[in-house]
Amino acid sequence: MLALAVLFGGLSNEHDISCMSACSILQNADRSKYHLLPIGITRDGRWFLYENADPEKVKSGAWETEPGLVPAVLSPDRAAHGLLVMRDGRTETVRVDVCFPVLHGFGGEDGTIQGLLTLAGIPFVGPGVAASANAMDKSLTKAVVDRTGVRQAAYDLALRPDFARDPEGTARRIETAMDKKYPLFVKPCSSGSSVGVARADDFDGLLAGLTEAFRWDAKVLVEEFIDGHEIECAVLGNDDPIASTVGEIAPTQTFYTFDAKYNDATSQLYIPAHIPAEAIETVRRDAIRVYTALGCRGLSRVDFFCTYADGEIVFNEINTIPGFTSISMYPKLFAHGGLSYPALIDRLVALAMEGTNG
Ligand SMILES: Nc1ncnc2c1ncn2[C@@H]1O[C@H](COP(=O)(O)OP(=O)(O)O)[C@@H](O)[C@H]1O
Ligand SMILES: [Mg+2]
Repeated sequence: MLALAVLFGGLSNEHDISCMSACSILQNADRSKYHLLPIGITRDGRWFLYENADPEKVKSGAWETEPGLVPAVLSPDRAAHGLLVMRDGRTETVRVDVCFPVLHGFGGEDGTIQGLLTLAGIPFVGPGVAASANAMDKSLTKAVVDRTGVRQAAYDLALRPDFARDPEGTARRIETAMDKKYPLFVKPCSSGSSVGVARADDFDGLLAGLTEAFRWDAKVLVEEFIDGHEIECAVLGNDDPIASTVGEIAPTQTFYTFDAKYNDATSQLYIPAHIPAEAIETVRRDAIRVYTALGCRGLSRVDFFCTYADGEIVFNEINTIPGFTSISMYPKLFAHGGLSYPALIDRLVALAMEGTNG
């Protein structure tokens, strides 16, 4: 029996998505193999062990007011190898064999939790510190992917001090660097779930997009617009990763916004994607190339476009802890290939236990 800590919630604006993913994991992890230690992190960063968790309460957010919550933290002290649980005025140590940080975005998918787990010597699901940090920051991802030969959208980078000093001048410089080819996509480098992402159709739109994006991040990426299918590929493994088949998201809104992702049931999901067989193979090959170049381990979902005009494959971004509900794209892609959700959890835990993370 392995003590499997499931970290959920967290500081980022993807807190709710994390709770939904954790609910599915708690419902599906094989209880004959794992002793589950659900650890909820509130939006303001308080940590609680939620023993005998009700998965539905994890999903709804009601867990936060459960009377049975016990304050608990992950100790970096390797002798503890787990949690310090503060019960009835006393501190007890609870061993953790392996951890699944089901956290998205800031404070969870960006290398921070991975750093703590690395110090603690606790194996964990997903990429290590450097790969997580580089995958979280879209400008750093771009710099790595530039060296792989995988195509990505042309881009420019805007920095907050420049924009604060001279908003119009900064926007003009970017517009010129992008050859005034509207529409452009404006996005905070380290956001997620499309928060702060905007499409700009003209100079005023660019200015507005930059203003909004700088609310979320000190670095903003401005990209060439890629008109194509939105394609996602799940990658699994350590030194010899495998790629799933390829899925497609067909949002009915102008692009795949936060609302389209979580509130709009009309977005369609196709597995396999509605693109030619050769394009699917290119995506699978490029997904592994990007994954390997970033030094990922465990899992990641690698997202692309397949252009309508000529079927070219263009890398968009990588998510090292992708949405993980039983109906999320990542598990569904592997389920399509015959790997069930509970078996996928087993595989991820086995990969985590295999050697050290980053
Ligand atoms: N260069 C681009 N061309 C066209 N659409 C884009 C581009 N970049 C982003 N998008 C749209 O914005 C959405 C969110 O952007 P993305 O880079 O995936 O950031 P996030 O991390 O927030 O998911 C994408 O799913 C896509 O719909
Ligand atoms: Mg995305």
